[in-house]
Amino acid sequence: MAKILVLNGPNLNLLGTREADIYGTQTLAEIERNCRVLAAQQQHQLAWHQSNHEGQLIDWIQQAKQQAVDVIILNASAYTHTSIALREALVAVQIPAIEVHLSNVHKRESFRHHSFLSDIVVGTIGGFGAKSYELAILAVESLLTLSPTGKNYGH
Ligand code: DQA
Repeated sequence: MAKILVLNGPNLNLLGTREADIYGTQTLAEIERNCRVLAAQQQHQLAWHQSNHEGQLIDWIQQAKQQAVDVIILNASAYTHTSIALREALVAVQIPAIEVHLSNVHKRESFRHHSFLSDIVVGTIGGFGAKSYELAILAVESLLTLSPTGKNYGH
């Protein structure tokens, strides 16, 4: 059983209507509902937030330390490609994190090919639409079993 914090960045509140050919037609609330069902089946606790503001996302990451969160699942959306501050917050709290994207960012514009997060997270899941989130939740158990600190996972 793990305490999981899922964070969603800017414009993900618009899922369902936003570029549906790329991101699908499910709303963020629908994705959250499916993730909550899956997390309960896996006996994980799930907290779920979305913000359009970088500082708010950083505050939630910092608070995760006091809240004894085991794993952060983060779709930082456009901040993935711009935010050194989000990267440094994740490094500061030393909580294993999984980077998630609905789309396969490597098949898209070149400005999406760089992530400030990929080299400091345990792993990245992208390209599976809303299922990317569920795959990340499924990954949590093996992550904590194989490497409780999230460090050196896969090495
Ligand atoms: C995204 C990909 C990002 O490049 C983009 O800015 C988003 C969504 C995804 O889930 O595919 O807002 O993170």
